[in-house]
Formats: sequence, C-alpha cells, structure tokens
Amino acid sequence: MSIPVVTVGPGQEDIVSGLERLRGPVTVVRRCSELAELLAACQSGLAAAAVVAEGSGELTGTLVERMQAAGVSIVALTDDPLEASRLRSIGVVPAPPAIDARSLASSITDAVDSVQDRFSVQTVLHAGFSDAVSRAPVRAAATASVTTAAASGAGRILAVWGPAGSPGRTLLAVNIAAELAATGKSVVLVDADTYGASVSVLLGLLDESAGLAQACRMADQGVLDDAALDRASLEVFTKSGSFRVLTGTTRADRWIELRASALSKVLERAREKADTVVVDTGFCLEADEELSFDSMAPRRNAATLRSLEVADEVIAVGAADAIGMPRLVRGLAELAQAVPDAAPRVVLNKVRRSSVGRSPRKQLGEAWQRFGPTGDIEAFLPADSEACDAALLSGSVLLECAPDSALRLAIARLVCADFQQNRTSAGRSTRAMRLLTR
Ligand SMILES: Nc1ncnc2c1ncn2[C@@H]1O[C@H](COP(=O)(O)OP(=O)(O)OP(=O)(O)O)[C@@H](O)[C@H]1O
Ligand SMILES: [Mg+2]
Repeated sequence: MSIPVVTVGPGQEDIVSGLERLRGPVTVVRRCSELAELLAACQSGLAAAAVVAEGSGELTGTLVERMQAAGVSIVALTDDPLEASRLRSIGVVPAPPAIDARSLASSITDAVDSVQDRFSVQTVLHAGFSDAVSRAPVRAAATASVTTAAASGAGRILAVWGPAGSPGRTLLAVNIAAELAATGKSVVLVDADTYGASVSVLLGLLDESAGLAQACRMADQGVLDDAALDRASLEVFTKSGSFRVLTGTTRADRWIELRASALSKVLERAREKADTVVVDTGFCLEADEELSFDSMAPRRNAATLRSLEVADEVIAVGAADAIGMPRLVRGLAELAQAVPDAAPRVVLNKVRRSSVGRSPRKQLGEAWQRFGPTGDIEAFLPADSEACDAALLSGSVLLECAPDSALRLAIARLVCADFQQNRTSAGRSTRAMRLLTR
C-alpha cells in the first residue's frame, strides 16, 4: 500500500513531482504552506509521514511528539550536520536536500516502518496521564523507565509528592537533596511544581530565571546537552556538599513552559548526569483533559504526572493531622489510579502531640490501619517550626541550621540507609555558604 505523505516548505514542488513520478511507494496527499497546516493535516489522520522540505528549524520536540502521537513519522531536509543531529534528537529523520526521489521514498518508508517501534517506545517512556496521547501505557511507563535507567547505569529519579495543603513536599525535597549530596552523591534538584514553585525561596536563591523552563525550552529544541543543563541550573554549596538546582516557574502563568515531553527529556538528561534527581512536584493529579476540551492544549498537571510516571521512587508526604491524613488517603487513591506503578513510600510530616494526642506515632499508625491503604507509614517526621523557620529565614538546609534536630535526622534516615548521627556535626553551626554558578 502506498504511504500517504504530507509536505511543507517552499522547496516541496520538486520533491512532490519527483515522488509522484515514482508512482508507487508514497503518495503526496497534501502540500501545506506552513507548519501549522502540516500539523493540522497530521492530526486529522490524513498522513503516515510528513516531509519538511525547508524550515526544519521550526520543528520542536513538542511538535514532533504531537505528530508522532497521530502516527506520523517525519523526514526533514537539511544539509547542516548540526541541525541533522538536533533533528535526530527530537525524533526526526534528517535527509540531504539534494536527495533523489527514490532515496527519499525509501527514507520515508524506513521512517514509517520504524515509527511503530519508536512510537511504542516513546509512548512507554513518555506517555501516560500527563499526555493527551494515551493513558494506557502508564504501567509500562514506570517499568520501562526503571529498565532504561538500570540498563544505562544512570541515576534514579526520586519524586516527592503530597496532596493539597502544604504538607511539606518542598521542605522534604530540598532536604533530601542536601542529605544525599552530603553523602557524596551527585544530585540534581528539580522544582516541577506548576502551582507554587518554592525551592528557590527555601534555598535563598534570588532566582527569577526559572532554570527548569530554560532547560525544557532547550530540550524541546533538541539542544539540551550537559553544558546546557549546567547553564540552566544553579549549584548550591553547603559545607557538607553541593547539588545542582533547576529552579521552578515562580510566576504562576509560566506553567505552560513545562511541557511533559520536554520535561521527560530534561529528567532523563539530568539522570544521566547525577546519581539522584530529586523532583519537587505539585499536588494536583487531575488529568487536565478532564478540565479542557482541547485535547492538545498544554496541561498544567502534566509536569507532576510526568515526574511521577518516570520516577523510580515516589515519596508521598502528608500532614499528620485531621485535615492532612484524609487528604493523603484520598490522594493516594488518586495516585494509584493515575500512576499505578508509583508504589509510594508514605511519610507523615509535622507530627505533633497537639494535633494528634499522646503517643502520636501509635495513634497515627492505628488510624492508618483503619482508614489508610495497605502498606505502612515509613516515617514520622516531627513538627519543628523552630528548625523550619530558621532554615527558611537563613535560606539554608536543616543539616546546616538544625543538624541535630529530630526532623533533620528523620529525613536523613529516610534517604541515607547507612546514616549515622555522628556525621551531623560536619555542618554544625555553619551557615550555608553558597556560590551560585551558571
Ligand atoms: N516538619 C515540619 N515542622 C514544622 N513546619 C514544617 C514542617 N515541614 C514543613 N513545615 C512548614 O510548612 C510550610 C509548608 O512547607 P512546604 O513549603 O515544604 O510545603 P509544600 O507541601 O511544598 O507546600 P506548597 O503547597 O506550597 O508547595 C513551610 O512553612 C514549612 O517551613
Ligand atoms: Mg512546595
């Protein structure tokens, strides 16, 4: 069967007539005047392949993913080797502009033949609730991402999630990053909360540049290499180690810059670089298509959902009180639906007698047995306003401003299996000294 092809670009006429003369493997079903028209044609199910004859520079990862979601493979003509490699990195097959019709037809055929595999792998790796494309492969998504990480020997992604009500996601994520860095691990901390990014505030970084948005933009353009990731991130030094931070979009209206496909690439790139990528996520797990009729519209919750889908490990944190616990229970049920393989480690934060009564651990444990999902609460993090306020005020982490606090020790034990308390003195009475480098 002849492959239906759509084309775009001023140079398409020669290409079209060349392909038509072959009378066989491919049929040009529409000539488009611009990329937007090409995208619409692809999404209407008209074509199995698209040829971008000129202007390949306008192709981004997001566009390509949309076309691939419609089952379309893309061939773009360029004679620039750098552009060819950029195109490859976003899933486009490059070909030289001087290519003869027969070779172009066979490139198109190869691209279409491989799209089945490529799309299924990409769907598995990058699709899930966060995508308009498909909900089905969520289970495979987590499995595949773990397998990929294991196979490449790359680092792990640890997502910190929790329901609405400020249970302490950011505090936990930031301090987990600091604790891991203090053990000598290389760590990248990513602020992917599209509702209330606050990692930079907690760390006292006067940063308005939204490093994660920058990194996503570069990933979308297919130019996110190690050096670019370094440029987009800040290095935060403490006396006990250092870690890199991709700051979030502190202006609420910038959530649109954190597209799922680009974020996946950023997280994958970060995990190639670091032992652990810690992601501070938003609270909301609603699939945005339930909120919007435009199935291709950007999705505010995609960053959280995508982070949870690709994470090797999820920590779910809830506030240990009469409001926080039921929210956590409901939130975990939503999480199980949205990301079935997440297998979260449950942590209760802000544990205090005044809100629970005497023996809070016992009381909370019993309440969990009765109302919570199966599985135990893995850690009880005490309420410690003094330590948290001191950290916030000085823009530092607990291992520096409250190294011996029960809260800091509980967080360290949660993520550092062989944590010993006597290591804590390393940071005692030191204030965070940080050098910010781009
Ligand atoms: N164990 C704790 N004891 C006392 N205060 C805490 C504790 N954990 C967090 N807090 C405080 O609770 C507030 C919210 O914490 P944090 O910003 O980490 O929550 P969040 O879940 O990220 O909230 P948001 O919805 O804003 O993203 C902060 O003021 C923080 O200092
Ligand atoms: Mg937060």
